Amino acid sequence: MVRDQGGCGRLFAAWSAAAAPDALWDNSRVGTHLNVVILAAGQGKRMHSDLPKVLHPLAGAPLLTHVINAARTLKPTRICVVYGHGGEQVPQALAAKDLVFVRQDPQLGTAHALAQALPQLTPRGATLVLYGDVPLVQPATLATLIAQRGDGIALLTALLEDPRGYGRIVRDAKGNIKSIVEEKDATAKQRAIREVNSGIMALPSAPLAGWLKKISAHNAQREYYLTDIVALALKSRIKIENVMPPACWEIFGVNGKQQLAQIERIYQWRQATRLLEAGATLADPLRIDVRGELVCGRDVRIDVNGVFEGKVELGDKVEVGAHCVIRNAKINTGTRIEPFSLIEDAVIGKNCRIGPYARIRPGTRLAEDVHIGNFVEVKNTSIAAHTKANHLSYLGDASVGRNVNIGAGTITCNYDGANKHRTVIEDDVFIGSDTQLIAPVTVKRGATIGAGSTITEDAPAGELTLSRAPQTTISGWQRPRKKQVRRKG
Ligand code: UD1
Ligand code: CA
Repeated sequence: MVRDQGGCGRLFAAWSAAAAPDALWDNSRVGTHLNVVILAAGQGKRMHSDLPKVLHPLAGAPLLTHVINAARTLKPTRICVVYGHGGEQVPQALAAKDLVFVRQDPQLGTAHALAQALPQLTPRGATLVLYGDVPLVQPATLATLIAQRGDGIALLTALLEDPRGYGRIVRDAKGNIKSIVEEKDATAKQRAIREVNSGIMALPSAPLAGWLKKISAHNAQREYYLTDIVALALKSRIKIENVMPPACWEIFGVNGKQQLAQIERIYQWRQATRLLEAGATLADPLRIDVRGELVCGRDVRIDVNGVFEGKVELGDKVEVGAHCVIRNAKINTGTRIEPFSLIEDAVIGKNCRIGPYARIRPGTRLAEDVHIGNFVEVKNTSIAAHTKANHLSYLGDASVGRNVNIGAGTITCNYDGANKHRTVIEDDVFIGSDTQLIAPVTVKRGATIGAGSTITEDAPAGELTLSRAPQTTISGWQRPRKKQVRRKG
């Protein structure tokens, strides 16, 4: 038996033992002919949601995706997903070439679910059962479980301070596993057992069909329990082993929203731990959310409440201010993102200054030393080096050259109600404040646009162009006054 090394007492203690040594396991130990079956047909009543439980997101991706990704690392012969509740939503959301989806309808329990998958499995080697609602299990733990099995069964178990809600592992006087009893069927003495069943198990494939046929639904929930397979296997003199994960959170299951939130925090803590270990500075590791992959260069600093989605790359010395959301973006060396900025599907060059309160939308490409200031929105626009748009502007569908100054309140009017048009602003241009550029239009190299202009024609290079009514003064003019109401009498 592999002992629990992390100590499954307090959550924080478990967190500190967090990083499972993913890199340390050897794929060859898994052997040939591995079936993986992921049970994901249950309703998830306690989620109180129309969305099937396994589609609820953890770090921005469905719970089931995390389980599928863990399964993929084992390079199995087959991955079979058993779905049912919520109709076709699960296969529709997660269809992939390497997955086989099997429908279980009605859902009569975990043994019944596995039985539906049998026709898809190779009756050789091992079958690994995973649960779609147990998403934090680590590849290294699964590989250990499969190796530990030998010719028998290996169960993933954990010692929990609070075992409520889980099936309990019942052992005989010698300490050998005797059976698994579900909480609803357990005696008071059995309920006091702290060793719980994760549901995850590695089984020999050949005898599966025979065992599953023998399982009945004579229990408190009138369900076919996969856990009954343990007592059946013992009758066939099959050895039952167990493995405990390095940290107990690996076996945490999601039944309700509270557990979903708890699992999200564990996941985020691990992401933060990885970033810190790799040398990033986080103002508060409890206030960062990574929903995807965040890669940081050297000396990156991230202030509180950063949200990183999809693939985000932060170059050396990048600083991200408080409350920024960055999605699918590359931020190059030395750039500073000031607080409350949103960046999406964009590439930001070296030594830029973005924000505070900037909105960088898809298709933005900024070269070196570009400044995008407060309340500036940039979309589908490329901006060359040393250009500045510091205040209150919209730059959409534009190409902006080098050393350009975009005055406050400048707007590229890119949309005529039916089509989008481009604005071209060449190098060394100065656009005065409150200018509207009616696209398609080009402001040629070195041109100056007077403040308050509406530019509808191309502006020639090196000249001052402006469109303004001449300023006049009406001498003696007076503001209207309120009429006095006379009182009667
Ligand atoms: C199950 C285990 C329990 C374990 C716990 C760990 C059984 C009988 N009990 O209980 O020992 O401690 O998980 O989280 O296995 N599912 C189907 N089809 C069904 C029923 C369930 O595919 O007919 C799937 C669910 O979608 C879920 C998984 O199986 O992913 C577990 O089902 P759930 O009802 O949550 O079982 P628990 O009561 O948590
Ligand atoms: Ca469950």
